[in-house]
Amino acid sequence: MDTAHIREKEEIRVMSRKEAGAGKVKWVGVAVGCIVAGMFSGNLAQGSQEGKFKYEDFEKPNYCGTCHKEIYQEWKQSLMSQSYTHEWDEIEYFKLALPHSQKLEKVAGVKSGCIACHGPLAYLTGDIPPKPVSAGTRVNEGVSCEICHNITGTTEAVPFNFSFTVDPNGTKRGPRKDVESSAHDVAYSEFTKSPELCATCHDEQSPYGAWVKETYREWKASPYAKEGTRCQDCHMYHAPGKSGLGGKEWNNIAHHVFHGSHVPSKLGGTVDVAVYPLKQTVAPGSELPIRIELFNGKAGHFIPSGSTEERMFWLEVRVKDEKGLDAILPVIPKGFVGEEFTIADSKAVAYQAMGEIMEVPGYKGVSRDGIVPDGSRIFRRPFFDPQGRMTICQWYTADNTKVDYRIGPRETKIENFTWKVPEGASGKVTVEARLFYTQVPSSVGEFMGVPPSEYAPILVNEATVAVNVAK
Ligand code: HEC
Ligand code: HEC
Ligand code: HEC
Ligand code: HEC
Ligand code: HEC
Repeated sequence: MDTAHIREKEEIRVMSRKEAGAGKVKWVGVAVGCIVAGMFSGNLAQGSQEGKFKYEDFEKPNYCGTCHKEIYQEWKQSLMSQSYTHEWDEIEYFKLALPHSQKLEKVAGVKSGCIACHGPLAYLTGDIPPKPVSAGTRVNEGVSCEICHNITGTTEAVPFNFSFTVDPNGTKRGPRKDVESSAHDVAYSEFTKSPELCATCHDEQSPYGAWVKETYREWKASPYAKEGTRCQDCHMYHAPGKSGLGGKEWNNIAHHVFHGSHVPSKLGGTVDVAVYPLKQTVAPGSELPIRIELFNGKAGHFIPSGSTEERMFWLEVRVKDEKGLDAILPVIPKGFVGEEFTIADSKAVAYQAMGEIMEVPGYKGVSRDGIVPDGSRIFRRPFFDPQGRMTICQWYTADNTKVDYRIGPRETKIENFTWKVPEGASGKVTVEARLFYTQVPSSVGEFMGVPPSEYAPILVNEATVAVNVAK
């Protein structure tokens, strides 16, 4: 079979897309971005390929796994294969987004919109709403091999909102020019290798026009983009080997681990933390200023990124001694607009929309910050619904520009604390700084019945310094 001309055709098409888009991205991006934002408000589902295909047009991942064994195992363990089945995803769609889409015209598009990114096979085949996970239909395959390797490009100059185009014609698009497979045709694709592939699902705009996911746009503005370090370089590590049975030996096979914040060892150490007490020896009854520095040296985007409506990253500072002293210090406010959302407050309630959608009588909301100790600094970007209440419903977000206090790529944040040394203190006291991360506020997790493992705090880093209390 003559696959050479297919490859050539693919390459030509990909190149012309690139020429049309990449060179002029800055200008085209601005113009198109405005038009899209206008068109888009009111309807999340903008993809033109909804319902265009049949499930049979796509192979099952375990078929691909017969030859691409390692890649299959990696993908199977990653969130890509669980994007529909992961419990919080199922809960949020069936208990909140789907009922909301049936009640409120403005968000009607999320009925298929959520599925376009989380269960693309169901979206492309028009199986909307899909069956629950327990029914075992093919939507459960999540973001499968056949999605990414059939993607030919995007309809947007700067992709977002499932703006990918697929062509399941049997040809697998991949990163290499000189490969052959007896099992299927292969075509080299610039798009597969590009961060724009990731952007089609990792950037999202709400029906109200708010940018509710911008991992790609954050990356694009970062030093990593300028240095040419792609999403693929950090999330699909490369190593020597073969990608499949009968394949060639390469020195840089792309592994499909997609480790992110759900993998504690990936998250661990992404932010450095250092503690600087002003003095090594302090007198009882005096005040000790403490400075803490946090450096995001490893993520190619903000921390947290992605589903920022529900992610919290916080700094807990304690002073302790062996005689029973154990106090958590409150951060000293800096005075920026919206700062109150970045300092933990056990009295603050939020997320009222959840109860409204679920029609819980007399619902007043739940704790805004869950288990985060009072006074701790929270690095987050709060989202607000059309009524101005903080929300975890990203599709119901009207504004998220009030305050964005996350840690940018290669950014250092400095936080200040004061320890009022008790009159009776003496001897060695330790100042401990701990950084924690949660996927979902514990209060939301409890209310929605999410398994506790999905919102348990993860220790990202810690640092301890000893000071001496003496007259
Ligand atoms: C019978 C074995 C077999 C099966 C089944 C198979 N492949 Fe392959 N595939 C190969 C071989 C061999 C290569 C070439 C690998 C090499 O030389 O690096 C390959 C290459 C690829 C490439 C790489 C192209 C590139 O540019 O590097 C992709 C992508 C791919 N396959 C995807 C899939 C998908 C998706 C499926 C399931 C629908 C699948 N394959 C099923 C054997 C298979
Ligand atoms: C989220 C999108 C995505 C999914 C899902 C995905 N891949 Fe890939 N795959 C990629 C990207 C991107 C590359 C190229 C990475 C690069 O440019 O460094 C790639 C590369 C490959 C390669 C070539 C590896 C090499 O370096 O030679 C093979 C083979 C492959 N994928 C097979 C599969 C199979 C089989 C599955 C399912 C088990 C799968 N992929 C799922 C995005 C994906
Ligand atoms: C078809 C849509 C789609 C494409 C394309 C896609 N992703 Fe994803 N990705 C998802 C979804 C959906 C999830 C969330 C899974 C979940 O938690 O439900 C996810 C999860 C992830 C995670 C795990 C994040 C965490 O919190 O641990 C990483 C890392 C990731 N993707 C990286 C990438 C990279 C890199 C690319 C491009 C090579 C890419 N993705 C392309 C849809 C996509
Ligand atoms: C320089 C390396 C690097 C680059 C480049 C990079 N990432 Fe990440 N990414 C990380 C690290 C480290 C983490 C874990 C820390 C975290 O969760 O923020 C992470 C986390 C994530 C998460 C989970 C975010 C969260 O806070 O829950 C997603 C999703 C993700 N990356 C997607 C992407 C996409 C898409 C791109 C490209 C547009 C990309 N990453 C580029 C290193 C990188
Ligand atoms: C444009 C693509 C896209 C759309 C549309 C989308 N999501 Fe997601 N979703 C993602 C990606 C990518 C992630 C992973 C980001 C991260 O790890 O922070 C994610 C993460 C999530 C998570 C967090 C999963 C976890 O394990 O913590 C939930 C829950 C979720 N989405 C539900 C929904 C619901 C419900 C809708 C519809 C209202 C929706 N999503 C619409 C792409 C999308």
